[in-house]
Amino acid sequence: MADLTIPEGGFWPAPEIPQPNIYPMEWRVETAKLAAIYEKSKRMVWNPADLPWDGLDPADFTREQRLGVMYWFAVLANFDASGPAVFARATIQAFEKHEEDPVRKCFFSITRDEMNHEECCQRTIAKLWPGGPLDWTPSDDLERAAHNNIGWLYHNGGRYWNGYTSAVGKYSLPVLFTSFMMGEMAASTLFRGMASETRHPVFGEMFHRIGRDESRHLQICMTILENEWPGLTDDTRTLITRQLRAGFVFLSMILWEPPEGFWDLPPYFLANHRVLMDHARDAGLGVLSYEEQAENWRVAMARVRAIVERWGIDFPAIPELDLEGVKVDFIDPEDIIPVF
Ligand SMILES: [Fe+2]
Ligand SMILES: [Fe+2]
Repeated sequence: MADLTIPEGGFWPAPEIPQPNIYPMEWRVETAKLAAIYEKSKRMVWNPADLPWDGLDPADFTREQRLGVMYWFAVLANFDASGPAVFARATIQAFEKHEEDPVRKCFFSITRDEMNHEECCQRTIAKLWPGGPLDWTPSDDLERAAHNNIGWLYHNGGRYWNGYTSAVGKYSLPVLFTSFMMGEMAASTLFRGMASETRHPVFGEMFHRIGRDESRHLQICMTILENEWPGLTDDTRTLITRQLRAGFVFLSMILWEPPEGFWDLPPYFLANHRVLMDHARDAGLGVLSYEEQAENWRVAMARVRAIVERWGIDFPAIPELDLEGVKVDFIDPEDIIPVF
């Protein structure tokens, strides 16, 4: 064996690594619970391609029903298709900021899951309405209404990406995570409700699995927030109240109906949206009634309120659901943290 080379005066210290730097070369574990959730996420992984797709036959639906189901999944894709990129971005941020290893890994697992959720939108639409959401030519008024509404939704979805990418660097973890937590609360509520309402086995299994993923995401957010919340400043609390209202106006599009004032939509949008949602309901997709949706959403928001109030954070007024709180006016697209 060759001899070691030891310089005179001892080894030279390696240069300092400039920060933020992409990779922390260690695997620090501070929150064992997060590490356990990550292990669970690996064991629970599922493959959207393995859902019983042969049981989803376009011939089992009328044209209106197929259009309605495609429309609902296009609305969902407006949320879910941002999921992978949103959490991939957050994963990179967690590496740059040298968050503990389980935080990095949990973000990665959410990215993985959201890719699966998006794939469910993709596969359902490909099966029932080839070319959807937008790459097809409508041939009557109902189809034109669906195509046009989807175009407007996409326009809105496109407005918040810049805000999000700057928010990731600008906002502290508790602000970001309260928004994430609210998105996961909304998503787990939505899919749990639809899993029990749908009459179709493919959608039943899909919603059940997605709902389970979303509950795990919620658990991840809550665990991270329990670490972060004790250090809150009053400024951060105020910002969180605002973000909660932003989350409500954003997520209502898929959980219920869009509130006035934020979504940039033509005046006929909502009337046609209701017609298309009725066709999706009629197809047995499991879309709850307007009142059931409102009740579900109210219960989910009340759970969020109970959680944040424990930490001295004011809840925003949600007059749309008769929930009292601090009045938050104008929400800008830049305020939206697009999560689901
Ligand atoms: Fe999701
Ligand atoms: Fe999620």
